[in-house]
Amino acid sequence: MVRVADRLYRALYHGVLARLPERAAVALGQWGLRALPLDRLPIFRNPDPRLTVTLGGVALPNPLILSSMYYDPRILRRAMGLGFGAVTTKSITARPRPGHPHPNLVRIGTAEGPGLVNCNGFRNPGLVAYRAALRDMVHRVPLIVAAAGESVEEYVAVVSGLETLGDLVEINISSPNTKLVYEWSTRPAALRGLFQAVRRATVKPVIVKVSPDFRETNEDTIIPAALDAGIGIVNCGNTRRVDEPRLSQKTGGLSGPALFSATIESVRRLRERFGGGIEIIACGGVDAPVKARAALAAGANACAYFTGFITRGPILARLILDALLESRR
Ligand SMILES: Cc1cc2nc3c(=O)[nH]c(=O)nc-3n(C[C@H](O)[C@H](O)[C@H](O)COP(=O)(O)O)c2cc1C
Repeated sequence: MVRVADRLYRALYHGVLARLPERAAVALGQWGLRALPLDRLPIFRNPDPRLTVTLGGVALPNPLILSSMYYDPRILRRAMGLGFGAVTTKSITARPRPGHPHPNLVRIGTAEGPGLVNCNGFRNPGLVAYRAALRDMVHRVPLIVAAAGESVEEYVAVVSGLETLGDLVEINISSPNTKLVYEWSTRPAALRGLFQAVRRATVKPVIVKVSPDFRETNEDTIIPAALDAGIGIVNCGNTRRVDEPRLSQKTGGLSGPALFSATIESVRRLRERFGGGIEIIACGGVDAPVKARAALAAGANACAYFTGFITRGPILARLILDALLESRR
């Protein structure tokens, strides 16, 4: 049945979703996630207790995380029943943001397989509305609430405003399509203050999400500053900044399999350099069981993905979980 679901989704993706204009494909995909009760079907999950991991002391039923992109609580709730061990919200900002105008997402074919380039620009309802939206959400698996901002005060407001509604908190200092967020990585001294302020703002485990475009700065300055502040979980990482003339901003963040070789290299290097002192989430290009296995074998504690959820569909989590158990035999 799992193989059949995989084949069906491939047919849907390549036959329909990949042929529609991106905006229509996104609308159709999100409509499907809201309308179809896929989370009631056991086929998408593998509840084997051997898959359980912990992240920042929080138990996850398995090491797969839906990466940050969706803010609609109906979709997040659905995703909690689609095999993931945790689900991340979109990066939320203090005030509502309309995001960048269309076109803000395009598909891209790469040598490694299908990817996306987006300049979403943090379209989100803002802290106050989002607090209300998350208030009654049942956490079938842990929820990671994500924050972004352009000042220390903004991160602190969002982190302290959302912390009771999530099980872990992720701070995004790396999205390339919002200038002031991306530029945090060029200001490591300011980041030190940011990390300390965020750490003081919440008792929940904090994840810092870094950019693949700043590998050396991440290793030499950003991660040591996070560790000094008591932030011990690193998500590596976000999308890679690329020029893309089809987008309204003419530049955006590349996601998907083209990122994978850099992701695995980062995981290896971080594990070698920081040993057991950090927990690592491998993110960037994980879109097949073999890649998730490789990332975990290279030293990641967990694996997050978004583009694979689109290109391989909700059945990907089950395929990966089955493969992880298979590799233990
Ligand atoms: C349309 C879109 C929106 C995204 N929005 C966010 C966001 O709000 N915050 C964030 O930290 N990452 C965001 N990301 C980045 C993903 O969470 C992920 O880090 C990145 O896509 C790399 O993983 P992947 O190759 O599995 O997609 C977004 C990615 C896409 C494609």
